[in-house]
Amino acid sequence: MKKTLTLMALMVALSGCQSSGDATVETPQSLRGSVPVAADSPAAPEAVYPDKGTSVEVVSVGQPPVIPHSADYPITLDKNGCISCHRGGKRKMAESHFEAGKVDGKYYQCQACHVPQAQNF
Ligand code: HEC
Ligand code: HEC
Repeated sequence: MKKTLTLMALMVALSGCQSSGDATVETPQSLRGSVPVAADSPAAPEAVYPDKGTSVEVVSVGQPPVIPHSADYPITLDKNGCISCHRGGKRKMAESHFEAGKVDGKYYQCQACHVPQAQNF
């Protein structure tokens, strides 16, 4: 009997919490926006990248930073479109990428580690 009473008291307390909590609980925003689950959500016509000059926060130790811009730059045997901008200056690649002043061959295929990150939401 005592157990039943305790249980009932607990249930009343919990339901009280729930109704008073509703007003403060935020409804999660779906990446689908207002498109209902049953409908196809159309893909964005094109990728929207963060503003130039911004970096996307690195969230784990050793993580290669994501590319905050389009990555449609050719990487061929004799041409690497990424290196032209990232060889030096403010946007220089990490020191680990260089070997005796040149880009280390192990780092030549940039997108083996770095992926572009669009922000279409
Ligand atoms: C036309 C110049 C240009 C080219 C080409 C280019 N980038 Fe960038 N990249 C930038 C700029 C500008 C930024 C923003 C850097 C900043 O100010 O934080 C950036 C940022 C980055 C970052 C993020 C750095 C950080 O610290 O968060 C990565 C990774 C990157 N680029 C990789 C690449 C790769 C891989 C390629 C080839 C597919 C490439 N980039 C081609 C100009 C360029
Ligand atoms: C084997 C994986 C790997 C490859 C391949 C690679 N990177 Fe990185 N990159 C990283 C990591 C990890 C970091 C974070 C710094 C570090 O630990 O070296 C980084 C950092 C960077 C940064 C930010 C530097 C800074 O100081 O904020 C830029 C820009 C960059 N890489 C560009 C490139 C470009 C351009 C290429 C191709 C030529 C490339 N990376 C190839 C793993 C890689």
